Amino acid sequence: MKNFLLGLIIGLVAVPLIFAAYILSGHGPVAATDPPMPLESFLAHGSLSARLRKEAPKGDVSRFTTADLISGANVYQKNCAFCHGLPDQPPTVAGRGMFPGAPQLFTADGMVTDDPAGVTYWKVENGIRLSGMPSFKSSLTDDQRWQVSALLARADKLPPEVRSALQPAAWAPASSANPAQAK
Ligand code: HEC
Repeated sequence: MKNFLLGLIIGLVAVPLIFAAYILSGHGPVAATDPPMPLESFLAHGSLSARLRKEAPKGDVSRFTTADLISGANVYQKNCAFCHGLPDQPPTVAGRGMFPGAPQLFTADGMVTDDPAGVTYWKVENGIRLSGMPSFKSSLTDDQRWQVSALLARADKLPPEVRSALQPAAWAPASSANPAQAK
């Protein structure tokens, strides 16, 4: 009984106090360049997967036309390329400098072609908290969110017309190949 009480006191008082001391002493990870906190990735990804299982819509984008994908590419250029990069381009400075980093969605490692379009749609609509991924709920229409999700679902087999809509624009974001532009 004595040990149980001692354990309870340590658990209820000492652990939160140590945690508060850790945060207030400036050891908490606040810089984008800091390594992740213990359990950070488990907490973030575990909750996200659970929400996606419950809430991601089941939309079918297999009949989306090339014109829909070009609209998706235009949405992507204006809203996403700054962080997530463009085909055949080096990773963007913004995407690499963030924590967590923004996956480069047209590279073999970063593609989300294995995710159902509804999962991408959910992320575009709601954003991902405590990462730089914004919510586009009020800035894009429902159709635009599906178009960009269909684009990313087919990122590895896009028709040439769509790929040409994904060329770097004149105002292309700074990439790690031309970092001077980032200054
Ligand atoms: C300001 C930077 C930024 C912008 C702009 C942005 N994102 Fe993101 N996005 C991120 C970051 C950072 C993550 C990684 C989140 C994580 O790891 O939890 C992310 C994650 C994602 C993911 C999940 C990738 C995966 O591997 O599961 C998708 C899909 C995505 N973004 C799509 C988009 C689309 C589509 C747009 C434009 C409509 C967009 N993002 C705009 C920063 C951004």
